[in-house]
Amino acid sequence: MNDPSTQDEPQFREYKQGDLDECTRLAWEAWAADSLEPAEIVEPRVMEGYVRSFLVRSNWKVVVSDSQGVIGLLFGRIGGSKPKGGGGSLVNELGMIPQFLFGVNGQHVSPVVLLHFFLTEFKVLVNVPRSDAEINLIIVDSKHRGKGLGKKLMDRFIAAAKEAGCRLVTLYTDDQMSNWKFYEIYGFRKVGTFHDSLTSYFAEKKATGIVYTLDLK
Ligand SMILES: CC(C)(COP(=O)(O)OP(=O)(O)OC[C@H]1O[C@@H](n2cnc3c(N)ncnc32)[C@H](O)[C@@H]1OP(=O)(O)O)[C@@H](O)C(=O)NCCC(=O)NCCS
Repeated sequence: MNDPSTQDEPQFREYKQGDLDECTRLAWEAWAADSLEPAEIVEPRVMEGYVRSFLVRSNWKVVVSDSQGVIGLLFGRIGGSKPKGGGGSLVNELGMIPQFLFGVNGQHVSPVVLLHFFLTEFKVLVNVPRSDAEINLIIVDSKHRGKGLGKKLMDRFIAAAKEAGCRLVTLYTDDQMSNWKFYEIYGFRKVGTFHDSLTSYFAEKKATGIVYTLDLK
């Protein structure tokens, strides 16, 4: 028989395709569950497009799960290089349009949201420095926050980045809808800010995009 004390220990493992629904649920719960916005963002299928947009640019994808399912995730990039000014990545960004427009079952996102999305993406491309590692998305289920899972996910990513010889980790977040304090406590340094039009649109107040870096040298 299994030892009951270890039965529901959170397990860290690689993301697999069947995890998409549960990862979408985490993103929906983190950013849309309490939203008063109409279906544009509250609609889980649109959130799926959002999560997919991070999956396509990540090559390091780890989830934490327990007996209830996925309770945390970190998607990031290790290796490669972001072209200065963002030229090459723009192709990737444009490739995400269909996912946003159609989600999975024909769910539409309004042109206004798309406009804010690409405007913000462009600012991210311009403002985030060239790096060889990047955090794209980190979420822990609200019922499991404050137990160290976010830090453990980050520790694993940083260890993998160091092992791959990376020198600089970058990320972008915002001051209204995301937990930027977590990054500062972890040791990231704020290196830039810009007006975040997408978050301002959803938060219905002025939001600032924040660029953070962590030096691994
Ligand atoms: C960011 C997030 C993943 C952190 O996960 P978590 O499992 O709760 O974080 P941890 O328990 O590992 O916290 C690590 C440290 O940060 C601290 N911390 C985390 N959030 C904090 C906050 N809002 N204010 C102050 N301290 C905070 C913890 O107290 C802990 O400090 P310690 O190491 O001194 O004990 C989680 O808050 C989350 O999913 N938020 C919603 C999604 C989001 O905003 N993601 C980030 C932007 S993409």
